[in-house]
Amino acid sequence: TLNNHVKLVEVGPRDGLQNEKTVIPLQTKIELIERLAKTGLSWIEAGSFVSPKWVPQMDNSPEILSHLLTSPPPSAASPLTFSFLAPNTKGLNNCLAVLEKHPNSFAKELEGENKKLPHIEIAVFAAATESFSQKNLNTSISASLENFRGVISSAKETPYSLRVRGYISVVLGCPFEGYDVNPHQVAEVATALLEMGVDEISLGDTTGMGTAPRTKELLNCLRSAGIRNEDLAMHFHDTFGQALVNTAVALEHGVRTFDCSVAGLGGCPYSPGATGNVATEDMVYFMESLGMDTGVDLDKVADVGEWVSKEIGRQNASSVGRAVLGA
Ligand code: HMG
Ligand code: MG
Repeated sequence: TLNNHVKLVEVGPRDGLQNEKTVIPLQTKIELIERLAKTGLSWIEAGSFVSPKWVPQMDNSPEILSHLLTSPPPSAASPLTFSFLAPNTKGLNNCLAVLEKHPNSFAKELEGENKKLPHIEIAVFAAATESFSQKNLNTSISASLENFRGVISSAKETPYSLRVRGYISVVLGCPFEGYDVNPHQVAEVATALLEMGVDEISLGDTTGMGTAPRTKELLNCLRSAGIRNEDLAMHFHDTFGQALVNTAVALEHGVRTFDCSVAGLGGCPYSPGATGNVATEDMVYFMESLGMDTGVDLDKVADVGEWVSKEIGRQNASSVGRAVLGA
């Protein structure tokens, strides 16, 4: 039934890799996406059209998008959607420039015939605190929202009428303001983004500081503000090991979309012990234990997690992945 279906958004190729300091070859990134597509994941965040000075690792996102359009990966699920962050008009235009080179991929009449053609989504990202907005976007919350208004409407007006995701970072804790994040502020930013036309809000617990009671408090506050569960995704980082506990709270509340990262990729190399997003393997295992349907093959995704960990020289950060593989 619909209520048992959970949508997982794989963010490993973007959130998982963006902080890696070593150069990861384009081919490895593409192979990661192709392997993920074979596990049953149908939503994959594949890159980021941001300033290469800020996030050098995402510099080859145009090549990734171009490749995905030229040779769409064989996938277990259909259709596939690939997302790319685009925080400003420049980012959106760089994304559109790639799409324009592949007009046939988007011809409306093709859509019905070839369900394997990938859909493309962009994502804007706001913050719940002023200090994080300044550090991440070099601007205030309100100025970022004004900027997103243009990005969102342009994305919708293109011939591709792109789907748009709206992240809100630091919703349950901020590296600069600690636990002092106001849930009403989150509700205001979410409402503003939804009014601008975003198709989904992803609530980012960027620091992993979220706890079960605070997750519940936040979701209750959003509900009181009139925000519907079907417009929400949860984006938990597992730094304090609370991601699945918080996931359980959100699931109970009625949210059905969750972000995760294969092998728990991510985290800051300068902060020992800090981890990335909740691992996709852990998420799939947890959902299966509750009888929820993710459409993702646990063994296959565990294999991808082990493969990519080796490729980038990291320990596999997924407990379930290691257990399943006996590693
Ligand atoms: P700025 O420096 O204020 O921008 O940065 P600017 O407009 O003054 O431009 C400065 C330079 O950047 C110019 O180049 C622009 O052309 C260039 P120059 O003239 O100096 O040679 N530039 C760009 N280049 C390529 N693509 C672009 C772009 N925009 C400007 N899109 C800006 C503002 C938003 C660009 C910058 O702050 C930025 O790129 N920030 C990105 C930060 C980022 O990617 N953070 C990680 C993703 S968010 C996240 O991880 C959280 C999430 O996972 C959820 C969660 O866990 O909470 C989503
Ligand atoms: Mg994140």
